[in-house]
Amino acid sequence: PFTIVAKSVQHVILEGKPAPLLAYQVEQDGNTWINPVFRVRRGTTVRTKLWNALDESTIIHWHGLKVDANNDGHPHYAIAAGATYDYQYSVINRAGTYWYHPHPHELTAKQAYLGMASLYIVEDDEEFALQRALDLKLGVTDIPLVIQDKKFDEQGRLVYAPSEEEKVNGYVGDTVLVNLTPRPHVNAATRLYRFRILNGSNARAYRLAFAQGDRQLEYAVIGTDGGLLDRPYPVKEAFLSPGERLDVLLDLRRAAVGDAVILRSLAFDPMHAESGAGMAMDHGAMGSQGQSPSPHAGMAMDGQAPGASPGTALPDGAAIDLLRINVTSKTAYVPRVPATLSTLEPVKALDVTPREFLLDLKDGRWRINGKVFEMMKTPVVVKRGASEVWEIRNSERSMPHPMHLHGFLFRVLARTGSPEQLKGGVVNEQGLTATDLGWKDTVLVWPGETVRVAVDFSHPYPGDQVYLFHCHNLEHEDQGMMINIKAQS
Ligand code: C2O
Ligand code: CU
Ligand code: CU
Repeated sequence: PFTIVAKSVQHVILEGKPAPLLAYQVEQDGNTWINPVFRVRRGTTVRTKLWNALDESTIIHWHGLKVDANNDGHPHYAIAAGATYDYQYSVINRAGTYWYHPHPHELTAKQAYLGMASLYIVEDDEEFALQRALDLKLGVTDIPLVIQDKKFDEQGRLVYAPSEEEKVNGYVGDTVLVNLTPRPHVNAATRLYRFRILNGSNARAYRLAFAQGDRQLEYAVIGTDGGLLDRPYPVKEAFLSPGERLDVLLDLRRAAVGDAVILRSLAFDPMHAESGAGMAMDHGAMGSQGQSPSPHAGMAMDGQAPGASPGTALPDGAAIDLLRINVTSKTAYVPRVPATLSTLEPVKALDVTPREFLLDLKDGRWRINGKVFEMMKTPVVVKRGASEVWEIRNSERSMPHPMHLHGFLFRVLARTGSPEQLKGGVVNEQGLTATDLGWKDTVLVWPGETVRVAVDFSHPYPGDQVYLFHCHNLEHEDQGMMINIKAQS
């Protein structure tokens, strides 16, 4: 058992500028941890006390974990400043890279943005076998990357002040941090590396690629939100929207000492068409073919906001360099990448009438099926144990929405009406990209696109359990692009 204190701490993100950060603090064995990464074996019973030492309400949501509603951190359970909340649940999820963040009504975006978020890694025997086969060590050769874009003031303090327009578009920053670190680098040897990548940004999506000079390297996607895939899928790029995770292998065996590989987000059309065509035109000029104008165009290494001209924000869809990997040593390394990573059941084709969800905008509010969130209403009722097909349709005049379900995971069945820029990453006839494979809790739906998912509503929790389905653009979520889902027997 341990206590997580939600509080404001002093922390240095920008060199020489200590500033307040909202954080989760855990004290254990005489150490104080800020936003610790939890590492839990499947089957473990977790007992945690949340102590709210903020000056406003909060609650923790364990993003991706299949827990009962009492432990899920629905905003209805938010606790006042000074109060505590006891969590107790057993971890029944597959091994995977999950995460935790606040979920109080209308305060989620601000608290997550100001610092409260970290990873929650679940492990099981399959996962241990992979770690042994690839000789992986968490934090050394198995490296979690939490990508978040932020804005700072002169004193180095985080600024969260979305305008009315930014509440509609989402709040994007001009400095992209990885693990709360600006301009990060890691030193590597000539071997395989695993990166567990979380897009922990409020509103910005990334088009992830590894590049060496002008050359885009192939990498292997081995896992997504809900853990390992059946086998590695080789790709050259993958979109990752807020809330989603991607587990990848990068092979540096043929690199030479002195080489540098850059993890970057390639330029893309952010497809903002919420208020007419104007915005989409502006950003479209970036090009949507995935090639940034020069290999160092988005380089953040000089401290300049990457991709932005001085004084302007870094627009959504801009090319950004995220992490520099310096190859600094040679090593003899023979990986045995298992042919089968995990026994992932194939997606079942269900002969059922899909349940429809339409995403649109009215009077400056994003809606699901024509409604904004109402705390005490449960418009969607599902039968515990049922298998459903959900059809999530995004309107034409819209923007991308990363749709997230609490309490249950799903499989993506098909994408239709996808934008051109997705084509480069498509891996099967159903139009899926590598990010869509395996068990998912968050799926990106582009404007004009329809995404079908198969949801498995089985869990061991009796009675009524109320969860959420919402957009993980956190400004959208706070503005009410969210709906209660009640599971009942
Ligand atoms: Cu990560 Cu309801 O969210
Ligand atoms: Cu969640
Ligand atoms: Cu949205």
